[in-house]
Amino acid sequence: MKLENVRAIVTGAASGIGRTTALELARAGACVIGGDVDLDGLKELEAESANLPGKIFGAHLDVANESMVKTFIEEAFEKLGDVNTLVNNAGILRDGLLVSRDEEGWLRKLPTAQWKRVIDVNLTGAFFMAREFVAMAMEKNISPSLIVNISSVTRSGNPGQSNYSASKAGIDAETRTWALELAPYGFRVAGIAPGLTKTPMLSHVSSEAQAEMISKIPLKRMAEPFEIWLAMRFIIECDYFTGSVIEVDGGARF
Ligand SMILES: NC(=O)c1ccc[n+]([C@@H]2O[C@H](COP(=O)([O-])OP(=O)(O)OC[C@H]3O[C@@H](n4cnc5c(N)ncnc54)[C@H](O)[C@@H]3O)[C@@H](O)[C@H]2O)c1
Repeated sequence: MKLENVRAIVTGAASGIGRTTALELARAGACVIGGDVDLDGLKELEAESANLPGKIFGAHLDVANESMVKTFIEEAFEKLGDVNTLVNNAGILRDGLLVSRDEEGWLRKLPTAQWKRVIDVNLTGAFFMAREFVAMAMEKNISPSLIVNISSVTRSGNPGQSNYSASKAGIDAETRTWALELAPYGFRVAGIAPGLTKTPMLSHVSSEAQAEMISKIPLKRMAEPFEIWLAMRFIIECDYFTGSVIEVDGGARF
């Protein structure tokens, strides 16, 4: 698909990788509806895109809220006409060990709410978005269409991230499954598994933990969001690419 023909929904567009994706798409002449819970961030994004060849519209969205997702998708198709791309990028971290001992020796268990919120946003959110997007695109006979799911290098497991790693392993399974199910209807579905990337998400990770992670990356630095965009651009432009997840991780393996 040519970049200038993209009419995309990007979730989590107010910050980090989603923001870079929306801006680069608009720079290439594409139209984007950016969904996010961060309304101030969306306003800034719209303002930043004002002089670009494409257009970005911000809209309030909590991907974990099923009825809000339905309304968001309906309104996105009304606004852009034929939406042909969904980037499932919204994601959160709520790290914690399964069971640990605190300084006084008491056992601490990962709270259920902490487990659930990450699964609800990162995994179920992608499911709600994809289901409503695909249903609407099929109803309107929009083809070709594309879904890009954002996974993570920690999808194979990382201490303190059982919720996050499980959500990202799950999104990889969604990617492969939807690619197989939807190919006959003209959809491609692919993923990107970034390594540590310089975005505001890392404000949840201590600087000691960041330094420790960087020390394990062969290239000894984080990725820039633009470097994740390069993989996104490849997926959009290569019409033969589906069912796989591109690793952009400086050679890191967990
Ligand atoms: N930064 C990294 O090191 C890294 C590494 C691997 C994968 N990722 C993944 O990349 C994606 C983007 O992360 P980022 O680093 O740009 O983070 P970020 O925190 O900068 O951006 C995430 C965006 O998602 C939004 N968001 C959070 N919950 C939401 C919800 N319920 N509904 C809609 N929007 C919501 C946030 O408001 C924010 O704007 C995530 O899926 C993340 O898991 C990030």
